[in-house]
Amino acid sequence: MPPRIGVLASGRGSNFVAIAEAIRRGDLKAEIALLISDRKDAAALAKARELGIAAEHIPYSVKDREAFERAAGDRFDEAGCSLIILAGYMRLLTPYFVRRYPGRILNIHPSLLPSFRGLHAQKQALEFGVKIAGCTVHVVTEELDAGPILGQRAVPVLEDDTEDTLSARILEQEHRLYPEAIGRYLADGVGMGQGSVTAAGRLGQPDEG
Ligand code: GRF
Repeated sequence: MPPRIGVLASGRGSNFVAIAEAIRRGDLKAEIALLISDRKDAAALAKARELGIAAEHIPYSVKDREAFERAAGDRFDEAGCSLIILAGYMRLLTPYFVRRYPGRILNIHPSLLPSFRGLHAQKQALEFGVKIAGCTVHVVTEELDAGPILGQRAVPVLEDDTEDTLSARILEQEHRLYPEAIGRYLADGVGMGQGSVTAAGRLGQPDEG
């Protein structure tokens, strides 16, 4: 049986759709079992339903971040998910959720990490004046945008780029990178020489000996 993926998304959902299409084409051997959004109006929910993928909204309260994560985790477990994919999920995960799925949560970030962590990465890159930008898929750890890197794709920054034009160029590469990186992760259980998944499913850090 193909590995079952749970998706967390807050917005547009284009990376989720790219992953779903890669699965449909047979390029990625997996199944998206459930998409959960913290936002009722997220386009990702509608796109999932159009694709015939189970999709649920779970209300989010900043007063009790773990309540959402407990509910989402319970639903993912019931759906038999072994891997959680963040696809434009705009909330910070608490240590509770990261520890619930150690080494089993992946994220895509629109910069060449470790540069430009956090929000508005493309704007940060433009303001810094870098000539090469890109995107990164990494394993989620308790530190924001700092987990082991599974893959990256680079794009040039052009003279007349705005945040929008640069974001669009990066997004095109995100859609190629995310399914590829998930495929490698599932096939090898190894993050491109950046560590290895132990028998317990935990991703060992290169400096752990
Ligand atoms: C992407 O730029 C991704 O890198 C970032 O959030 C955005 C999500 O876009 N984490 P979408 O919802 O997948 O279209």
